[in-house]
Amino acid sequence: MERKWWQNAIAYQIYPRSFYDSNGDGVGDIRGIIEKLDYLQDLGIDVVWICPVYQSPMDDNGYDISDYYKIDPQFGTNEDMDELIAEAKKRGIKIVMDLVLNHCSDEHPWFKKALADPTCEEADYFFFRKGENGNPPNNWRSMFGGSAWEPVGDGRYYMHIFGKKQPDLNWENPKLRKALYDMINYWLDKGVGGFRIDAIIHIKKDPTLASRAPEADGMCGLVECCRNYPGIGEFLTEMREQTFDRADCMTVAEAPGVPYEQYGDYVGQPGYFSMMFDFTYTEIYAGWASSWKGYKKIGEWTVPEFRDMLFRSQTEIQKVGWGAVYLENHDYPRSLDKYIPDEDHGFASATMLATLYFLLRGTPFIYQGQELGMSNCPWDSVEEFNDISTLNQYQLVQREGCTPEEALKVVGKYSRDNARTPFPWNSGKNAGFTTGKPWLKVNPSYVAINAEDEKKRDDSVYAYYKKLVALRKDPATSGPLGYGTITPCLLDYDDVVAYIRSEDGQNILVVNHFGSGVRKVTLPYDVQQVLLTNYPATNIAGGVLTLQPYQSVVAQIG
Ligand code: NOJ
Repeated sequence: MERKWWQNAIAYQIYPRSFYDSNGDGVGDIRGIIEKLDYLQDLGIDVVWICPVYQSPMDDNGYDISDYYKIDPQFGTNEDMDELIAEAKKRGIKIVMDLVLNHCSDEHPWFKKALADPTCEEADYFFFRKGENGNPPNNWRSMFGGSAWEPVGDGRYYMHIFGKKQPDLNWENPKLRKALYDMINYWLDKGVGGFRIDAIIHIKKDPTLASRAPEADGMCGLVECCRNYPGIGEFLTEMREQTFDRADCMTVAEAPGVPYEQYGDYVGQPGYFSMMFDFTYTEIYAGWASSWKGYKKIGEWTVPEFRDMLFRSQTEIQKVGWGAVYLENHDYPRSLDKYIPDEDHGFASATMLATLYFLLRGTPFIYQGQELGMSNCPWDSVEEFNDISTLNQYQLVQREGCTPEEALKVVGKYSRDNARTPFPWNSGKNAGFTTGKPWLKVNPSYVAINAEDEKKRDDSVYAYYKKLVALRKDPATSGPLGYGTITPCLLDYDDVVAYIRSEDGQNILVVNHFGSGVRKVTLPYDVQQVLLTNYPATNIAGGVLTLQPYQSVVAQIG
């Protein structure tokens, strides 16, 4: 495929509220990111995706936008954003903004006008419908729980497939689409390197808005109603032509549920986007369950199941285009908690997971704190949560029979807030994140797990991530590890996830031991040079590789 700059980039995701607070108000901000750009440069980052910083009432922490052109004062000013783009550029880093196009905020002027005057132009920017006999217009369930419709008091309801304060935008309206494209072009003209595109897979709704077969709560999930709904491609093609095609930008879509047969349309040549996140293997523990009972605990899924999903994703995507590879983001618990039993959390398991995903084919994304080996936060009370979806789930699981104590435990394990705790910069007060009162609990692990300490040590998770970045960038290995192909291997071992990256006759083997015992693997390859391992030594004798608990080995093979 035609080679693009973003295929060789290393991306880093920042949750701005929690990254670094420059002014002591307890909330991270853009100037805080500017102050920490050197940290990102040291790590070897080329692209930084920042979650939404636009003006917002912050009901869903910025995924509810009331002005797409304005930076929210909590995060700074538009001038701060200009400065961030410029300062990042000086360090060879591009800023990727979050685009929230499926919905806006109920405090956006469009929505306010639409509420005040049902006949105004903006009323058609949303989905307003009359209810039926005091019931919502249909039985669609919001992703955050409860009906996807909210009454406005005059007989009308509006659709919100996420929170109540996030009314869905009606993409059927050409004026609305044009307004969104103008906004995208405004930010492209400012010099952003591209966009992460939120919930884009939902922009096309079943035009009949018909109810679907009810589940136990009388409602239905949204998969059939508005996920990758036929016709969405017309909107996505038009958006690409009128915006992204104007710039050499990188676009990464949040688009769960696209069947692999359609990946060519999404990330092919050309696709609607540069790449997209595949949710299969990162959500092996969850699934968009209507109930907490849908969550699968560690042990209820197996390594071969995980490996099958991962390799299916990799081999399907390489047939048609490019992917984004990741384990964590601001919507998941920490990857150690998703994939590794509690008693095994530590350097070996954190670096094994890192090796496993980082050298896959695709653009790797590191989520803030992942490079330090952070785990979930211990939650002592429901008051400590901030996330709208966690709070909804907390109520839901109690309605389903959990005691408040059980609810705290279940919800705490899967809460998005686990990933949103303030970044631990050092072992000082508030982990060095703020001089004020942090907006969310600081994970007490900061005493041992913090950037200042890990940067000093050669044996830290941070130092290991730097080695992975270096391998991807070293001209001696960047060919196979960048554009190179991927071939799964060593599939006979149930606790091993291994693959070979190849380009122009050069082959790099990546072996990851996903288990806590010792595993012997007979290697049908001639190992020429071990390039990296997360243990002091690699034991290969007589063609047998002996792997320690959670050991990874990266080697050049003949
Ligand atoms: C996906 C985002 O990643 C998530 O944080 C947000 O709550 C929803 N989309 C709604 O915008």
